[in-house]
Formats: sequence, C-alpha cells, structure tokens
Amino acid sequence: MARRKLVAGNWKMHGLGADLGEATRISMSAETLDGVDVALCVPFTLIERAVEAAPGFAVGGQDVHHEEKGAFTGSISAAMLKDAGASLVIVGHSERREAFAETSETVAAKAAAALAGDLDVIVCVGESLDVREAGNALETVSAQLIASLPETFDTDCLSVAYEPIWAIGTGKVAGPEEIEEMHGHLRRQVAAARGEEIAGALRILYGGSVKGENADTILHLSDVDGALVGGASLTADQFVPIMKAGQA
Ligand code: 13P
Repeated sequence: MARRKLVAGNWKMHGLGADLGEATRISMSAETLDGVDVALCVPFTLIERAVEAAPGFAVGGQDVHHEEKGAFTGSISAAMLKDAGASLVIVGHSERREAFAETSETVAAKAAAALAGDLDVIVCVGESLDVREAGNALETVSAQLIASLPETFDTDCLSVAYEPIWAIGTGKVAGPEEIEEMHGHLRRQVAAARGEEIAGALRILYGGSVKGENADTILHLSDVDGALVGGASLTADQFVPIMKAGQA
C-alpha cells in the first residue's frame, strides 16, 4: 500500500502569539487537501494557543524529556505535551543532538516516552558535511537511525526524517540522487534490523531547505514520504505550496 505523505513544519525558536494567524491559515488550507497529513511543531509556549487557533489540526512539540516526571528543570514530559493539546513531537533534531549533546540512545528513549504518552513521533537523523565529504554518510546515518529507534513502535505513530545538517537553513538541498540513495539505504537497514513489514510501512521524510520551488521534485522521489520544513513553514504563503506538493 502506498504510504501517505506527511508534511510537517518545525518552527524552531520562532513564533509569538501574534504569529498564530499563520497556524490558522495553514490548518484551514490543510483541511482542503487530499491524501496528505500536515502538522506544525511549534515552541512549547505556543502549543496550547496553536491548538485553539487551529482546532482539529495536528500541533506538536520539538522535544520531550525521556522520563515521565522528576527534577529536570526546564524540561517537558510527554504527558505535559499531551495535556497542552499536542499530538506529536520531534525528537533527535540535529540542532539538539549538537547543542545539547543528545546521543542516539537518549533519542530512542525520548521516542519511547513519546509513544508511551500517546504522541506520534518524528525521529530525526542526518550527517554533517565532514561525514558526507569523507564518504561515510550512508553508514553513519543508518547507524544513527537504528540506534535512535525505540524497541517497539507502530509505523502509524513513528516517522523518520532524514535531514543532512549541511542542508538545514543553508538553501543547499541534497541532490535527488543523494536523497534517493539515502532513503533507500535507510529503508533497507530498517528492514534488516526490524523486518520488511515495518520498513515497508515506515514514512521517511526529507528535511533541509525544502521550499515551494523544490517541494514537488523532492516529494516525488522514490522512498520520500514527506518533508520536515523549517524556515518555509513559518508562513502559510510559503508552507501551503509544500503541503500541496505532498498531495496524493
Ligand atoms: P530548513 O527547512 O529551514 O532548512 O530547516 C530544516 C529543518 O531543520 C527542519 O527540522
């Protein structure tokens, strides 16, 4: 069966209450589209208000703590995200792996905590420019992915995003062959580690400078099941064309 595409926005550390009109516009446009899932992962402070501004629309967080509760100043649990109205969360974004020294083992624990808390999860992986130039991208990213997956998961609730670090926010997009090669490789490695059925149903999104102008090409590459979009998800004007490109 064909995998339904997922186009998710990651607002990162952008957005105040005044920007929620964009979330409303994006959600209204999503309702008119066929055969594509759309979501927006906003800062923690906006989750509850984004849910109010976009009723029925999938609003998510950008990180979650792996413990259920406890003395973890500044952290947010899966239950807290759910309580605020979130239905999904991103884990393992390269910006967190780098800035907060998150390991793949931590990312797997975060993904497990999110699923246990009834949140869908997007697990991010991706290589640095050094790794790509050294010719080690495929094995590095697949090892990262296998180590970042929780012990058990349902492919209806867990997706993967391949985001080459050198393509994030740089305007540099990975080439079609690079994307297809990586996505095909990741699917084969998941098949070897977790079985053909899981690998065949797993959605693998691409992220890194996805824009309206390149979305159609990227979203129609083989083994690409959606996009994780940073900068171009901040406004409906830029995000809606990407959402449309994801339609069945
Ligand atoms: P850009 O789309 O701004 O390159 O960001 C990609 C990303 O990191 C999404 O998580």
